[in-house]
Amino acid sequence: MEGNHANFGSRMGAIFAAAGSAVGLGNIWRFPTEVGNNGGAAFILIYILCIVIVGIPIMVSEFVIGRHTQSNMIDGFRKLAPGKWWCIIGYQGVIVAFIILSYYIVVSGWTLYYSVESVAGSLTRNHKYDEYFQAFVSNPWMSILYAVIFMAIVHVVISRGVQKGIEKFSKVMMPMLLLIIGVLVVCAFSMPGIDDGLRFLLKPDFSKLTVSVVLSAMGQAFFSLSLAMGCMCTYASYFSPRTKLVSSAMSVAVIDTIVAVLSGFIIFPAVFSVPGVEADAGPGLVFITLPSVFNMAFQSIPILGYVFSSLFYILLFLAALTSAMSLHESVTAYVHESLGMSRRKASFLVAVSYMSLGVLCCLSFGPLRDCTVMGLTIFDVFDFVSSKVLLPLGGLLLVIFTGWYLDRNLVRDEITNHGTISSHVFGIFIFLVRWIVPAAIAVIFIRGIVEIL
Ligand code: TRP
Repeated sequence: MEGNHANFGSRMGAIFAAAGSAVGLGNIWRFPTEVGNNGGAAFILIYILCIVIVGIPIMVSEFVIGRHTQSNMIDGFRKLAPGKWWCIIGYQGVIVAFIILSYYIVVSGWTLYYSVESVAGSLTRNHKYDEYFQAFVSNPWMSILYAVIFMAIVHVVISRGVQKGIEKFSKVMMPMLLLIIGVLVVCAFSMPGIDDGLRFLLKPDFSKLTVSVVLSAMGQAFFSLSLAMGCMCTYASYFSPRTKLVSSAMSVAVIDTIVAVLSGFIIFPAVFSVPGVEADAGPGLVFITLPSVFNMAFQSIPILGYVFSSLFYILLFLAALTSAMSLHESVTAYVHESLGMSRRKASFLVAVSYMSLGVLCCLSFGPLRDCTVMGLTIFDVFDFVSSKVLLPLGGLLLVIFTGWYLDRNLVRDEITNHGTISSHVFGIFIFLVRWIVPAAIAVIFIRGIVEIL
């Protein structure tokens, strides 16, 4: 199948697609929730450190593996280490993709519902947002219906292929998303809670910092950059030989971090504008607290509340869509290329399998609410296991593979595009993936898990 492996049509297309994968609910829904739960500015600082020291080297490693092998994540490892057990990193990726996407589509379904409701005007007419949110999520039919519609949209894009589907979509969505974020930040700065919001985001209080907070920050960095499960390997297999891997990884990381931090700037001034609304409200933060904030903050000019909330939920929906596409594509690419199934069939099969597990997560807000492990619902367990256990472990294996197993010359050739661009970052990269990144992940992971248990 190697000869007809798909490709992105342009360098910009490749960066937009990878950034589209990275920027998602992780930035606009999960990041503010984690910042709120973990105390604000100090968490953000640790998060940014994790992006630079751990995140970027892992992304470059995935790019090297994906582009060199021109394969999906499982075949990639098979080609680089024939007969060895390293391909378990690829299989681990498939499992993680299932765990993440099955709860991701639940929240994506909420974003679709809230977009529809806010554009239709029902969101600004209602005032009891807690009940409104609970009524929606606990109704199994409604949340499953919206998750299914969302999955169907993802399936349609993916079955159109890499250039006509993923690249074309990402090229339109990403600029739109950045534009909407810009408008929302300007609005947020006119809110009464701006001072408290900025203090929360910018003034670190290191007394709240524990190892489990650092583990949360690292898990969030993995999650937000779409790392450690083969997503970026798969996308890099569509890169052209001229794509510069290190600078592309940096561009993606910068875009992703800017969007996450700006989401904080949109959400916290809004949260602090309304008395009684707490920053640590959990997964409902952007669905329960924000609508009331939009309403109250714009009481005198209701149309602004309408515009602000519609734009916000559409933004959330678009971001979720491009990320879900990448999770879906990583498994579809494997089924399509390795099992020889047509792309359309593979994509359909993968969508249906994702959805079956997704139903469990939808139900965990309703009929399965009391089905818990250590106090966590199925939804929470999926979130915890993926970002705090499997992604760090996958990341650890991946850097050990790149730093210690892979041939140095192969890595140098990929990073320097076969000697055509300068190689001064190569030494730093190798040093990081051999020593610093594995040590950092291992220490944070082990100590964090011990503290949590
Ligand atoms: N990065 C995406 C977000 O921030 C989610 C995502 C897409 C992801 N692909 C992934 C997370 C792979 C972990 C691994 O919403």
